[in-house]
Amino acid sequence: MSANNRPIGIFDSGIGGLTVASAINRLMPDERIIYYGDTAHLPYGEKSSKTIQRYSQRITNFLLSKNCKAIVIACNSASATAYPIVREMAPRDIPVINVIDPTVSYVSEKYSSGKIGVIGTKATVNSRSYAKRIPKSNQKLSVSMLATPLLVSMIEEGFFNNKISQAIINNYLSKNTLKNAKALILGCTHFPLIKTEVESFYHDATEVIDSSSIVANNLKKELIKGNLESDRLDGSHQFYVSEKTHSFEESTKLFFGEKLKLEKKTLKD
Ligand code: DGL
Repeated sequence: MSANNRPIGIFDSGIGGLTVASAINRLMPDERIIYYGDTAHLPYGEKSSKTIQRYSQRITNFLLSKNCKAIVIACNSASATAYPIVREMAPRDIPVINVIDPTVSYVSEKYSSGKIGVIGTKATVNSRSYAKRIPKSNQKLSVSMLATPLLVSMIEEGFFNNKISQAIINNYLSKNTLKNAKALILGCTHFPLIKTEVESFYHDATEVIDSSSIVANNLKKELIKGNLESDRLDGSHQFYVSEKTHSFEESTKLFFGEKLKLEKKTLKD
């Protein structure tokens, strides 16, 4: 196998990162994916930074042992708390992509001034990552972040696109913190699954930013830069989880058109 046909490692606490994995698969169908969903430890957003860092370290070791040529932290909570550690663990020639920085660049270039809203987990909101980074890139932008902790479990249970999920989403989005935002960043990789419901709250008047394709484009740029692009799909994608769940299996259909075979893999420190 040539060095460029090595897989791309992607991880999240659960199905959220599949939004990023499927965007990568659509943009670069020749790239092989190894995905790890840490379902046994979900939700990451309720855990301390230390704990998320420990889980991220374990998964990074696993992905590196699988000979991955790039690592994508397809989770805002882990991107906000563990990116420097993951970057440090991987050899320099392996790109490590987090989901926050490419989204910060996108917003800072697209909007000249005003308020940007962000919804995410408690871990992401407490890290203030978007609130610190966006005004650094563009001083005329302000950021208001709101933790929406109920949404991850709701989505992970396959509970969306119905009246009750819409009511919960509307309730969060009506909070004062998000009033008059020019754009709303879906600051959790689970949230693209409720993008239509969020857009319907705003009646399409506010841009709802799903970072999955922004992150996929960023990965492509890094692969080109490092001369790491694959020219053909060598083998099949692999999906690992720390706990098999029915809803995870069902969700793979949504993203990859077929129910994917999950392999249970418990990781140790
Ligand atoms: N999808 C993840 C994120 O982007 C984590 C959600 C969770 O496990 O709390 O933050």
